[in-house]
Amino acid sequence: MSNEIYPISKLNINVMNEDKCLYDQVKISYQKEIRNMKYFGVTNGMTILDIGCGSGWFSRILCESFPDSMIYAVDGNKDLLSLCKKHHQSYINKGQLKVIYGEIGKLDFDIEIHVIVSRLVLQHLSLPLKDIFLQEMYQLLTPNGLCFITTTDKTCVSYTTIYGKYINHVFTKYYEFLNHKDDDVDFLTHLPSQLNDTGFTFLNVDNITVHSDEPGQDIKHFLVHPKRCYGLVLYHKITKQTYEKAVKEYETEIKKNSNIKSISSILQFVSKKN
Ligand SMILES: C[S@@+](CC[C@H](N)C(=O)[O-])C[C@H]1O[C@@H](n2cnc3c(N)ncnc32)[C@H](O)[C@@H]1O
Repeated sequence: MSNEIYPISKLNINVMNEDKCLYDQVKISYQKEIRNMKYFGVTNGMTILDIGCGSGWFSRILCESFPDSMIYAVDGNKDLLSLCKKHHQSYINKGQLKVIYGEIGKLDFDIEIHVIVSRLVLQHLSLPLKDIFLQEMYQLLTPNGLCFITTTDKTCVSYTTIYGKYINHVFTKYYEFLNHKDDDVDFLTHLPSQLNDTGFTFLNVDNITVHSDEPGQDIKHFLVHPKRCYGLVLYHKITKQTYEKAVKEYETEIKKNSNIKSISSILQFVSKKN
């Protein structure tokens, strides 16, 4: 069904569920993100590229917030991209939004791009691709162009109180599969200097919001349930017994403590091309 980029179908995550998670995540932080964009100099009429747009809920916010801007929404997952076209057809018809298939590391546009936005993408890239992506964004931007990277890493999970031998094992495998490589758990600590090394001037980092998968709410609404990881069994990354033990452990933990909470931060890094 789907290509290799962002392997949600491999993990047996329903694309409609993923779409709903992405929608929720945009809803809880878009106002602050747009306010920051305006504060750092994004104005109506500038051309904006949204890289890794997913089903395009933030691209839509960009269309609404900058009505005279042209928005290019790019992604390498065909299922999410077709949802993006479906949801935001009216902006495509108006000629304000262009939805384009594109893989990070192979992006090429012959237009002047004043602003790049990339939300919740960097943390999914393996280490060499992360560096390539920063260089690519630098190349794509016009001089003085602005870059807004909204992302997280494992060090941003500040408080999670659901533990268990099998749960931990399943989630470790899950994050490995999603390219959250253990050698790169704290990449945000060196992202500012990396942006500078790439040629950007690093301007700011802001704690934007929590992750909608772990919004500091009752753990019963915690979307990263071991059940989300069933695809790992299908791909022989864990055994069915381990999966079942993790699910059982999770359900026992929930019964034991109805107040389990978890919080992780999402940060926005702002930089400018010289
Ligand atoms: C968590 S989603 C974020 C979607 C969107 N930016 C948002 O904020 O709602 C991550 C997106 O990055 C895209 N992505 C990941 N790796 C990619 C790659 N190598 N090339 C292009 N897109 C990629 C995925 O397909 C997915 O849509």
